[in-house]
This record gives sequence, structure tokens and C-alpha cells, in this order.
Amino acid sequence: MAPIDPHSFTDSTHPLTTHIALTLYFHFPSSTIHATALLTLQNPCTGPLSLDTRSLVIHKILDPETLTPLPFTLSSSEHPINGRHLTVSLNNHSSILILYSTSPSSSALQWLSPPQTFKKIHPFVYTQCQSVHARSVFPCQDTPAARVCYSAKLNVPRQLSAVMSARHCGHRDPVGSDLDGVLTKEATEFGFDLKSLWCEEGRVVEEFVMEQPIPPYLFAFAVGELGFREVGPRTRVYSEAVDGVLDAAAREFAGTEEMMRQAEGLFGEYDWERFDLLVLPPSFPYGGMENPRMVFLTPTVIKGDASGAQVVAHELAHSWTGNLITNKNNEHFWLNEGFTTYAERRIVEVVQGEDIAALNVGIGWRGLNEEMERFKDNMEFTKLKNNQEGVDPDDMYSQVPYEKGFQFLWRIERQIGRPAFDEFLKKYIATFKFKSIDTETFLDFLKANIPGIEKEIDLQQWTEGTGIPPDAQEPVSNLYTKIMSLANDFKLGRMPREDEVCDWKGQEWELYLENLSKAVEASQVIALDARYRLSESKDYEVKVAFLQLAISSRCRDYYGEVEKTLKEVGRMKYLRPLYSGLVQGAGKDEEKILAKRVFAEARECYHPIAQGVVEAILAKHV
Ligand code: BES
Ligand code: ZN
Repeated sequence: MAPIDPHSFTDSTHPLTTHIALTLYFHFPSSTIHATALLTLQNPCTGPLSLDTRSLVIHKILDPETLTPLPFTLSSSEHPINGRHLTVSLNNHSSILILYSTSPSSSALQWLSPPQTFKKIHPFVYTQCQSVHARSVFPCQDTPAARVCYSAKLNVPRQLSAVMSARHCGHRDPVGSDLDGVLTKEATEFGFDLKSLWCEEGRVVEEFVMEQPIPPYLFAFAVGELGFREVGPRTRVYSEAVDGVLDAAAREFAGTEEMMRQAEGLFGEYDWERFDLLVLPPSFPYGGMENPRMVFLTPTVIKGDASGAQVVAHELAHSWTGNLITNKNNEHFWLNEGFTTYAERRIVEVVQGEDIAALNVGIGWRGLNEEMERFKDNMEFTKLKNNQEGVDPDDMYSQVPYEKGFQFLWRIERQIGRPAFDEFLKKYIATFKFKSIDTETFLDFLKANIPGIEKEIDLQQWTEGTGIPPDAQEPVSNLYTKIMSLANDFKLGRMPREDEVCDWKGQEWELYLENLSKAVEASQVIALDARYRLSESKDYEVKVAFLQLAISSRCRDYYGEVEKTLKEVGRMKYLRPLYSGLVQGAGKDEEKILAKRVFAEARECYHPIAQGVVEAILAKHV
């Protein structure tokens, strides 16, 4: 066994999968997918082949040519982070056919019952595969080192439609021959006759192909009653088919094509043909997920003032950094998120201006400094490249790869100047596109293309050292400095005057609130809210930053609003600080009881990944 990824059973001595063909039958009443996966290998393989699975029932594995069964074993216990190790015995096989079903607890999948949707008529299901959850949708070598192309046939109820992070190439009636070559005539391998279910009245098949090789974590679909609006020549925005949501989303994201043109100018041609956006239900656990061809977004980014563009800029930037060039495993995650944060800010700078870009750098700087405090007893996680053996990527998700990664690249930019750095970035992308790389590969390329850089910048300290290197820096901007000084004044009892904040939008308030001392008096928090109504903000960044302050000053007046917020959104960026704020620290019995009760009541509405993360927070402190 020669592992290549601490989060995968993939063995480097085995051939990698190059293509996966999936047929997926969605059974909403049981929150289950009955499926077949045809895996094609790089070259013929004899002996064991290791695959990752989680919460999958494996019915049978067959030789696709003869449909004869192949022996396999599934590890008896589920590894808490990596899932179950599936081993198939091969004899000069270059493809295998796996018949399996997902289970209701598959960690990538959130099944929403009709009452949990906007329209409350039809159910909805969607995936979130990053970082280690693709294995709960299909068996695979679930490491970003193994890039695959795929095709998929999704069989869904006729009233629903399906979207994927892939090219849509068919919407048609199901036919029995969809399963020919993957099932025997009786098709009872599942314990029931899948072929007759597949062809039942009232079903439809949606077909997709992804011809560009992607890491498995970029596999994505959503099925529900979906509608869309055209927002640009390469962009539609999709969501549940509710006119109000679609119209608001179309307005919020009207500037997408302009952003794409700017990004192409900076990083090279857009390689994925389409850039569609899917707005998910409020339980979506992230702000955005860079699924290729179709980014997934939380509805909380629709604020009515086009500020959601920052999240879109970030996910768009991943089209180059992350999706074209991918971290080889999660220990090099900063290559995805640090580069993308840098690229996002470059896009924001052209479309929203230098001041807004500087505010974002400042918000990130604050976040990075807070992570140093959070990880003071576990400095390994303050390194860009870190050891993740035995570490659950969902539990240790932090700003470090984003903001320290950003700082590192910004430091290089300052050293060599923007024109040279821009040229370097374009060359880096062109050289490594469609490859999965590690930190060393990046550093070698940097040293080869910018000779002598290692004498100017301590590259080892930046990539392998703990903490924040001394040559990192805060943004330079008048607006930033002014807000920071107002935040400082609050400690001395001075609230900002109305004329000082009259043109503040979300980011200004966010920066201000996050820089207020955590030790302020409850009465001061109440006075601030009485004047500026921050607890009622429609912008969740502002509202959550305020509620955090309210919790840390033990201001019970706002616990009702905290509870309401925890029950209406499932974005982990909000759940983490609110739950942690409630349960961390001594003498907080009342808050701990509140957190436990709210979680028990809200749990069902969270995505399984978010459920796991909140559970881990409560387990540590309650
Ligand atoms: N790829 C991430 C989301 C992610 C990271 C999912 C790790 C699973 C594991 C995405 O690009 C992201 O960073 N989203 C941010 C957006 C923000 C930085 C603008 C988010 O969700 O908050
Ligand atoms: Zn990202």
C-alpha cells in the first residue's frame, strides 16, 4: 500500500480511473439513489484495486464485457474520516461495473422534503462533494490527484429537472436499453427489478457529459423543480422555479459576463465554455462552490445591492485556480484557495474598485489573525502546507489557506511588481492546466521563472512555517484606516456619527464590527444597534458579525435573533461562529443549553456536512 493522499484509500501502485459512466435512479421517498458506475482504468490491472466509498451499499461488481461477478471486499468498519475501503480483485481488467445504492445518510447529499423547499410542492436533492464526499455518491479514487472525465444519465420524476457541473446533452423518455450492458435481463441485482422502475411512467432521463478531466470533488448535481433566467451570453442563473428568487438572482448577477471578460484578461481564456450559476436553498453549507460550468451558491449572497458579486468573483476565479490547476491533496489546499483569493481580489479591484478590494483584504487580515488565536495550541494548522493525517478537512476548515495564501502571493507581487507577477501567473496557469500539483511543484516553478526570489523572500517560512510571517501586511487604503480607527474609538465609548457611516455598505460594517473589541459592555452593543439596526440587517455578513459581538458581550436580548438565524440558514460560515460563540468559555450554562436545543431543532434542516461540523463544536465544549 502506497497512499498518495491522507484522505483516500487510493494506492499509487494501482492504475488510476480515467472515465466514469454513471446511471443514477433517484428514489425520493427513500432518499436513495440506485446506481451503476462503469469505471475505466488507465491500463489493465491484475490484483487488487482500491476504491473509496462511504455509506454506499455495494450490490455487485461485474466484468462489463461478460457481466460475470468480480470478487470484492468492503472494510467492515467505516473510518470516521475516510469511509470504507473497497477492494476489487481484477484479472487483466481495464474496466469494472459497480452496482450500488447510496443511503439516506450519504454525506454529500442533502435530500429536502417538499416543506423544506420554497414552493413546498416537490422534493429537492443536491450534492456538496468537496473535500471528501464524492465517495458517498459513487465509488471512486476520491483524491484530487486522480482526474476523471464522466458521463451521467439521471432518471428523475418528470415534474423535476436536473442540472450538473457538466454539459447537458439530453432530456428524454427513459428506455430499457439505457441499462443494457450494465444489467442482466432480469435486472434484479438490486434485490428488485431496476429496469422496470427505470422505465416507469412519469420518469424522465437527463443526460450529461464532462469531457474535461476533473478531480472527483468537482462532481455535482441538483434535482428539483428548477427554473432559470439568462443573464449573459455564457451564463444562466438557475434556482427553484420561483419568479421572485429568479428575478432577484438575475439582477444580482447581471455583471457576470463583465467579470468573466476581466478575469480572462488577467488569467487567460475561460476554458469551461459555460459559467452558469445555481442558487440553492438556504441550507447550502457554503457561500459558493466552484463546480465547473455551474457554480453553486447560497441564497444569502442575494442582497439586492450586487455585493454578491464577490462570491461569484471567487468561484469564477476557481475556473483557473483550483479547477484547471488543482491541489494534489488537501495538504496543499492553499494552492486552490490562496490563489483563488488573490485572483478574486484582482477581479473585485477592476469591477468594484480599489477601496472595496482593500476592505476585503482587511476583512481577510482580521480573519487570519483570529485563526492564529484559534490554532494557538495546534500551530500545524497555521502552516500553508500542513500534515493532515487523521484530520477531517471539514473540522479544520479555516481562513489560513485563503488568507495566508493570499498574503504569500501578494508578497511575491510586491517583490517583483505587478506586470511581472501577472505574466508569471498566466504562465503558471498555462503550464499546469488540467494537472494536480503540490507546493513543491509550485515553488520549483516560481524559482525557475523568477530567479533569485528565494534570496528576497523566505519561501520556506511562508510555506512550511507557523504563524504570520513578518513581511505580511495590512492593506493600505484611507477608507480602511478610517474604519479601523472608528472601531478603535468604540472602546473609548465613541460610536460613529451618522455622517461618518452614511455611505457604508455591507463590507464597511463587516470590517468595523469584526474589529470591535470583544470585551465591550452589553449596554454599548445595545446602543449601537438602537442607532444602526445591525441585528436586522438583510446582509448576513453584517448581521452575524453583530450577533457574534452580542454573544461575546453576553447580551441576552439578542439570543432570540441568534436562534432565528441558526434556524433559517445552513451556511457554515455563520453556523460556526454563532455556535462556537455560544458554547466556548466558562460559566456559560445558559448559552450551552440554548445551543443544544437550537441544534436539536434545526439539525434536520442542515446539510449532513454542516450537521457534522456543528456536532464536533458541541462535542468539544458541551
Ligand atoms: N471551494 C470552496 C468551498 C469549500 C472549501 C467547500 C472546502 C468544501 C471544502 C469555495 O470556493 C469557497 O471558498 N467558498 C467561500 C466563498 C468566499 C471565500 C467568497 C465560502 O463558502 O464562504
Ligand atoms: Zn474557494
